Amino acid sequence: MFSVDELKAKFRELYGREPFLVRAPGRVNLIGEHTDYNDGFIMPAALEYETRAAVAPRTDRILRVHSAKIGETAEFDLDDPAPQPRRDWTDYVFGVAVALAGAGKRLTGADILVASSVPVGSGLSSSAALEVSIGYGLLAAAGLPIDLVELAKLCQKAENEFVGMRCGIMDQFISCNGQHDHALMIDCRSLDKRPVPIDPRARLVIANSMVHHELASGEYNKRRASCEEAVRLLAPVLGPIRALRDVTPAALEANKALLSDVTYRRARHIVSENERVLEAADALAGGDLARCGALMNASHASMRDDYEISCEEVDVLVDIAQKLPGVFGSRMTGGGFGGCTVSLVEAGAADAFMEAVRVAYETATGLKSTIFACSPQQGVGPLEG
Ligand code: GLA
Repeated sequence: MFSVDELKAKFRELYGREPFLVRAPGRVNLIGEHTDYNDGFIMPAALEYETRAAVAPRTDRILRVHSAKIGETAEFDLDDPAPQPRRDWTDYVFGVAVALAGAGKRLTGADILVASSVPVGSGLSSSAALEVSIGYGLLAAAGLPIDLVELAKLCQKAENEFVGMRCGIMDQFISCNGQHDHALMIDCRSLDKRPVPIDPRARLVIANSMVHHELASGEYNKRRASCEEAVRLLAPVLGPIRALRDVTPAALEANKALLSDVTYRRARHIVSENERVLEAADALAGGDLARCGALMNASHASMRDDYEISCEEVDVLVDIAQKLPGVFGSRMTGGGFGGCTVSLVEAGAADAFMEAVRVAYETATGLKSTIFACSPQQGVGPLEG
């Protein structure tokens, strides 16, 4: 990761002047997967992994962005009447400028350098961290006020419309609003958030399966379509439902015959996952780590069997973790088809757990997992130092 001094030095070398610095974190989701775009409940936390942006305003309407990781500079004209995606990393940057401008924000040109420690393709939201750091940086460069809920929504819009990924609000929202030492239980309909402290007797351990299957974004959009289909088919009998959030497990069971087997199982994941999130938030807040862990295990089974978004390597990683001493629960986190798992582990057992997972996963798959215990961070803001 670029230190503050390295970032400033690189910026001076590239652009010959002084920047201000912004940081925006990646995230881990403890429970509540694919529920966000169903108006449901999620419980993410912001990570130490983050994108850092060095920014300085320009007097014209040009955005110039350099990615330290890719070693590439790209330019964008804020006055381009019909901006087109380029199908590469710059879409996450310029898409945010397009979304902000579309919402009436009068931006100025800017020189930008971005560097990130969020591993790409790991399911820890490297793209949201990039979008949010850019959005915050562009608003600050133009001297505009920053509303963190609005920023999250506009970054999501950039990803939906400019990048073409129909993601929900989770990643951008937690990157904007993360809270130190807490997960946030978020109602994705009202965007109300409830901070849930991470019990000091437990650690959150993230293990990277080191695989990322290419079908991820196509399958993601298909899952979303199945959820919409379920709502369309259930609405005539259930009345004014807007999303699967409005369907209870009992109502789904009673009307199972209206849905194909696949659509029913997709809906069952969402409907049951929403209940698990609500219960897990109470369990974690009330110190019932065993219950919270059991709900995480059930969430994994539901993602694997009903929503079918896991994969062999992730299942191996979860199976290894769930059997180790001191583990309350373990599940895949993020969009799916690879990426990371999150485990809730007794604090005193965490080191031994990480070592045991590393060894067992390598023995089983030949892959070397990156594993770390995380402490939740604040959302986007100025980077001091
Ligand atoms: C991705 C999306 C989120 C969310 C998760 C699954 O990270 O960006 O909006 O849907 O997948 O929970």
